[in-house]
Amino acid sequence: MLKASGIAKSFGGNEILRGISLDVERGELISIIGPSGCGKSTFLRCLNFLEHPDAGEVQVEGVTVASTGQWRRADEVKAHRLRGHVGMVFQSFNLFPHRTVLENVMLAPIQVKRMEEQTAHRIACELLEKVGLAAVQNRYPDRLSGGQQQRAAIARALAMKPSVMLYDEPTSALDPELSEEVLSVMRALDAEGMTQLVVTHDMRFARAASDRVLFMEAGQIVESGDPDVMFANPREPGTRRFLRTLL
Ligand SMILES: Nc1ncnc2c1ncn2[C@@H]1O[C@H](COP(=O)(O)OP(=O)(O)O)[C@@H](O)[C@H]1O
Ligand SMILES: [Mg+2]
Repeated sequence: MLKASGIAKSFGGNEILRGISLDVERGELISIIGPSGCGKSTFLRCLNFLEHPDAGEVQVEGVTVASTGQWRRADEVKAHRLRGHVGMVFQSFNLFPHRTVLENVMLAPIQVKRMEEQTAHRIACELLEKVGLAAVQNRYPDRLSGGQQQRAAIARALAMKPSVMLYDEPTSALDPELSEEVLSVMRALDAEGMTQLVVTHDMRFARAASDRVLFMEAGQIVESGDPDVMFANPREPGTRRFLRTLL
């Protein structure tokens, strides 16, 4: 359902992504792990063209966007269509601070999809119920815990009815018990068949919840596979080194 091929990106002459290809099946939960600075965030951002790759192609739900290095208006139009199928969640939540939780979730469907306010309200309430925030839906983000803010950010992304969700270290800013609230929402989405790609430092989650783990190093996916197999028996020296430093 998501296919990336040959994604390459340099910053100031440094090759950060060295032609990454990835096929994601519908319903998969994939964890992306790897040392800091290896290009995980850049890769995730290239998948929905928040960052323009220098080369490569991304296909989501039949929308294909190819990058030739030159970014033209027609590419931006297609990238906009592709983004409509992709939800993104960041480490720092990025909620609108001057909007209530409910308003945060209603905003994009109304403004981007021209959804009727009543419909957007109904969908937002359902989603907030689902992520356990119905009781605090009229609060402003700064009145919520980090775990609640991140669950609101997930509900906001879901309100656009994405086919795939991308998460960039969704629990890195959270204490363990608050992380757990967020991870359990992601597990519930997985059980419903949502397709999810998660950059994470939480190896327990990566091992227990993922269908597949990708280990990235220096702008490449150097190993990928079943989490139990990879964690018990990493094949590549880089993976071994990385997993050893975590213990
Ligand atoms: N906008 C940017 N301009 C210049 N360098 C960048 C930019 N974004 C990322 N980088 C560099 O690219 C490398 C990979 O970054 P990143 O994708 O954030 O890694 P990770 O998420 O794995 O920690 C780092 O060396 C970072 O400094
Ligand atoms: Mg990162």
